[in-house]
Amino acid sequence: MAIAVVVILLVVGSVVFHLASPWWFTPLASNWGTIDATVDITFWVTGIVFVLANLFMAWCIIKYRSKKGQKANYEPENKKLEIWLTAITTVGVAAMLAPGLIVWGQFVNVPENAMVVEAVGQQWNWNYRYPGKDGELGEVDPKLIAPENPFGISPDDPNGQDDVLVFSQEMRLPLGEPVKLLMRSKDVLHNFAVPQFRVKMDIVPGMVTYQWFQTTRTGRYEILCEELCGVGHHVMRGVVIVDTPDEYQTWLNSQSTFADTVAARNVDLDAGKMAYAPCAACHGASGEGNKLLNAPKLAGLDDRYMKRQMDNYRSGVRGGDTADILGMQMRAMVSTLPTARDVNNVIGYINTLPITSSAATISGDIERGKEIYQTCKACHGPNGEGIWVMGAPRQAKMDDWYILAQLKNFKSGLRGSHEDDWYGGQMVQMAQMLSNDQEMNDLIAYINTL
Ligand code: CUA
Repeated sequence: MAIAVVVILLVVGSVVFHLASPWWFTPLASNWGTIDATVDITFWVTGIVFVLANLFMAWCIIKYRSKKGQKANYEPENKKLEIWLTAITTVGVAAMLAPGLIVWGQFVNVPENAMVVEAVGQQWNWNYRYPGKDGELGEVDPKLIAPENPFGISPDDPNGQDDVLVFSQEMRLPLGEPVKLLMRSKDVLHNFAVPQFRVKMDIVPGMVTYQWFQTTRTGRYEILCEELCGVGHHVMRGVVIVDTPDEYQTWLNSQSTFADTVAARNVDLDAGKMAYAPCAACHGASGEGNKLLNAPKLAGLDDRYMKRQMDNYRSGVRGGDTADILGMQMRAMVSTLPTARDVNNVIGYINTLPITSSAATISGDIERGKEIYQTCKACHGPNGEGIWVMGAPRQAKMDDWYILAQLKNFKSGLRGSHEDDWYGGQMVQMAQMLSNDQEMNDLIAYINTL
């Protein structure tokens, strides 16, 4: 009898929990209300079966519980009952599957007028490509992927020249326009999902997969990678901002094309050297860094990392917090380089400076540090050389006091907390792994051996 009561309470509790639960769908922001409908149908079918089957069980326990003088009757076959059960089960299963097949048919048939956008996934970031004025994406070849051509666009294809490249985790879309999203991966399996759009699709290296949707409201929505893709899987997040068509167009026009990025490769080293003069006051004539001035070494950092930091300082993504005094100083200095051209020239000049070893100032347990570094090396490289494609700068031969200061800043959120600091945000998460100063010292002591 007690069991029957427990079963009934479980049924009532499950239904109440389901109805009162705060964990429900996020508000729909796309045309895919039919996907919600199929999920609702599945909930109804499985919910009704769950309630009826369990209440029937409880009723049996009460009605047929052991009584003196009452004997159970063995009845192995009951054709009529079996026909009924088979028929009802068939209807229930068909009701759950058939609507899904209809919606899937719509999901794989993209409307003719859909605009095409490409999302490129890699461990653990997103980049996006929009067709330029010609409305066509240029040819790509994975063999062409290089620091100066991260999308691997064929320089010989005229369609690729005006492709708009977005080197940020943030993409934008115009409200109400059907979008066909093409997806590529540079390395392993990923998955592009936006919960509010109710869409998701795997991304397979060597294939171009697709999905389509039509947005129904403006807003900022998180893009999640929903395929386990390595230690950084949980930080592989992006954002899609749905704008009015005018706002979208303004944003799109402000992004650089493939041709722009090719042109940016031509640097004027003499101009770069001149522009570097104010930097040299703190960072040293050879970019060797100066601990007394809290200026880190620059020689050895890759172009993309330096450019991103300068852009972040300029926009206040880094150094925008008044508690970050050193960051604020650097913000002021970045204003001495007003144009993208100046920044490119300075970075080009810094690239010519020799990479020397910095003196070690921190000691710790190297063996323990090596263990901790196993997680870091996925992005920063087995020898701390940095991996440009990960957005991860060099650690080996850099200033250890600066690495320690930045680890602390990431851990406390002084650096990397801005919502547009994508890579910094990843480091904020990764730095939480270091539980105390000793672990940071151990880690850096190991990095000093690289
Ligand atoms: Cu990419 Cu998980």
